[in-house]
Amino acid sequence: MLKNKLKVQSSKFKVGKSTAFCLLLTAYCLLSVGCRYDMQDQPRYKAYKKSDFFSDNRASRNLPEGTVPRGFLREDKAFYTGKGESGQNIAPAPAATPAMDASGNSLMTDFSGLVNEFPLPVTKELIDRGEQRYKVFCIVCHGPVGNGDGMIVRRGFSQPPTYNDDRLRNAPVGHFYNVITVGQGKMNGYASQIPPADRWAIVSYIRTLQISQNPNGNMQMTPTGKSSANSAPPSSNSNTTNAINANVNGGER
Ligand code: HEC
Repeated sequence: MLKNKLKVQSSKFKVGKSTAFCLLLTAYCLLSVGCRYDMQDQPRYKAYKKSDFFSDNRASRNLPEGTVPRGFLREDKAFYTGKGESGQNIAPAPAATPAMDASGNSLMTDFSGLVNEFPLPVTKELIDRGEQRYKVFCIVCHGPVGNGDGMIVRRGFSQPPTYNDDRLRNAPVGHFYNVITVGQGKMNGYASQIPPADRWAIVSYIRTLQISQNPNGNMQMTPTGKSSANSAPPSSNSNTTNAINANVNGGER
């Protein structure tokens, strides 16, 4: 009898324990759900909203001075801007004042500070890439060989200057790069559409076009010193020309 009683009691006790455990588990679950923060609900300011926390009442903070976004350090000035420091191979101050052509384009002759040399190796691949990009972005206005007779111009857009005159044959490569980057006069810049390496590729293709369109078959910019224009010193483009010639003509010139 006593044994039986004990059994009953112990079984009662067993039931009580597991019930308590269930209750505790439920309470824990409920509590922990109550404490949970979803990422989207975390305390934060919305951009440009008001805030009493900062003395200027703006939630958005200015970036610390000199902040550089990842991947935008751009230490190679020549590569990213087409411009160089004094002491580097850069074009000198202008010899003549800018003139206007019939289409109202200012015929720029001030190339000062722009690099004469390509800041990357000029390879056949680079020129091929430049040709492909030129045909995407530039041919519509500047025409197939750079004479400024592209389809948009034939439909009425004002004509750009030809690449194939002495002024632009003797212009430093940095000039073409700079115009693609920031634009010039009626032409808008292409920095947002064409990454730096592709801009240089296009410049190498423009040089190739200039060589192909030179009536004498000679750019007159070789270290022999016979520059065909006076706006830049004879030696200013020699390296560029060598690089291009080496690739276009298999290094014969
Ligand atoms: C919508 C037509 C148009 C397109 C597309 C265009 N350009 Fe131009 N570009 C012009 C015009 C017009 C000018 C003359 C601007 C002026 O002087 O007011 C010009 C000027 C230039 C010059 C300056 C020449 C000088 O006088 O020194 C260069 C270099 C040049 N473009 C290169 C390019 C390259 C490279 C591309 C392609 C990435 C391109 N352009 C795309 C219309 C265009």
